[in-house]
Amino acid sequence: MPRFGRRWGSLLVVTTIVLFFIVSHKKVVPNVPTQFTTTTPICAPPPPWQPYEPPKNGAFSWRDVPVNYPVESLERIPFLGADPMPRVQYSFPRPSSRSEAIRKERQAAVKKTFQKAWNSYAAHAWRKDELAPISGGSKNTFGGWGATLVDNLDTLLIMEMHEEFEHAIEAVMDIDFSPESATKGIINMFEITIRYLGGLIAAYDLTECKDQRLLEMAVRLGDMIYTSYDTPNRMPITRWSPRKAASGKKQFAADNGILAEMSSSSLEFTRLSQLTGDMRWYDASSRIIKQMEDQVSKTKLEGLWPVGIDVAAPNLTPGSTFTFGSMADSAYEYLGKTYQLLRAASSTSMGNRYRNLYDMAMEAGIKHLLFRPKVPDNADILVATTVKANSPSSAQRDNSGEHLACFVGGMYALGGRLTSNEKHVEIGRKLTDGCIWLYKNSPNGIMPEKFTLFSCPSPTDCEWDRGDKDFYIGVNDKRYLLRPEAIESVFYLYRITGDPSLQEAAWDMFQAITNYTTTEYANAALKDVMKEDPPKEDSMESFWMAETLKYFYLIFSEPELISLDDFVFNTEAHPFRIPK
Ligand SMILES: *[C@@H]1O[C@H](CO)[C@@H](O)[C@H](O)[C@H]1NC(C)=O
Repeated sequence: MPRFGRRWGSLLVVTTIVLFFIVSHKKVVPNVPTQFTTTTPICAPPPPWQPYEPPKNGAFSWRDVPVNYPVESLERIPFLGADPMPRVQYSFPRPSSRSEAIRKERQAAVKKTFQKAWNSYAAHAWRKDELAPISGGSKNTFGGWGATLVDNLDTLLIMEMHEEFEHAIEAVMDIDFSPESATKGIINMFEITIRYLGGLIAAYDLTECKDQRLLEMAVRLGDMIYTSYDTPNRMPITRWSPRKAASGKKQFAADNGILAEMSSSSLEFTRLSQLTGDMRWYDASSRIIKQMEDQVSKTKLEGLWPVGIDVAAPNLTPGSTFTFGSMADSAYEYLGKTYQLLRAASSTSMGNRYRNLYDMAMEAGIKHLLFRPKVPDNADILVATTVKANSPSSAQRDNSGEHLACFVGGMYALGGRLTSNEKHVEIGRKLTDGCIWLYKNSPNGIMPEKFTLFSCPSPTDCEWDRGDKDFYIGVNDKRYLLRPEAIESVFYLYRITGDPSLQEAAWDMFQAITNYTTTEYANAALKDVMKEDPPKEDSMESFWMAETLKYFYLIFSEPELISLDDFVFNTEAHPFRIPK
């Protein structure tokens, strides 16, 4: 494989550093440390300082692959102002000893479920992407670098499984992100970013930036992911072949891409730049948010972007399908969260970009994407759906729902707190109540993957008029894939409102899910939750342990553990520390 080698690599690094200092010296920045240091609880101090570089230890380095389309100047993270953000978490009173006992018992049950799955993974699928929970086999589904291993480093720390963590990190240090090591063919870079990069960054943050091994691996992987942005206008190749890229051939982004895949790296990239002082990643995501901002008023529903987009151009305007659900989800989720991570004092323009787009998207969402379903007890709930529109006046909701869109409740509630918008917190509650309702009223206490509901004529005028007929018009996908989004929103709403009934709802969900998914080794996806005793599938994606069980554990933890005022979760439930 032809490479430019060390000379070009060092030239690039030197250029980057020089550029960095030219750019950074335009503004007076207090407390500029001269090298990478860590302090608690800030972890890394605010950049700029000399960018961190992983040690040269003979491992393949994506930095040495020649760059076809170099960046001329890097956008740098604005220095964070001192304005504190509004408080997110509820001020929990001292709990009674009885409620403490119940909480701890439930938390122990969640941990036990996690431990069993982890031990099976370690015994039967070590270093592979997934454990097959029925056969006890293994699968490589996300590059083959040990997705479950990396995805759960932070969960091991949160659950205080320190021995297992040490065992795991040794295996992680053996991961080789060379092109030859990747599974053959095209890799979904969105999944690599949220699971692996997110996992490494969060674990590093949870060690209070003391375990440099984690930063090293995050940066090695970050270098690889950054190579997938080496296109004429620096838009990412979201379905990417590491082998092809390493050959040095010119690369191009797709003209038929997906919104979420293009727009869901801002949190990981911002945090990685905060931690390393290396602005390449932050710069890469700032190019994307600028495009989203430039085009947000030109789409068929102002404030929202369609699911299908041309990443190469980039052109986000022609599509006519809009949703907060699959293929769009985290593009919206990351607006409020990146704003929080950047902790934008009102004067920082980049933080304002995310904030303004959050405001626009959530308002457009209220107008077009949320509906009140008609249900037998006339519950006052909301569901996030999908719309086809050629203009705002022609928008047609299809009143479909999906498990994946259950995260939307948490998104509105968190954003509502961050922007002091109580209306968004209330909407977040109704959306979360919608998911709780659908769990509770589905045959086995588990919501199916995709379904269609009856819509109320208006949010205030709603009377069930279908006798004892089913409230589902149809269930288009009857599986339960061990997904986290419902418990995720229940967790957010509990931490935000302090309502103890949400812990009860969580416990009902946990019991129903474990009741039907438990196997000899771990937990398995369900093929049909509408059937009695739902049949299982030999599949357990890494998010079962990394997200679903983590949120179950955290809703039964002390509310200060991973406080929403100190951490922001990426879309794979990896908590990143918010610099203060
Ligand atoms: C567990 O499953 C059994 C049937 O296998 C059912 O009777 C019981 O109600 C279930 N419990 C929960 C909490 O879902």
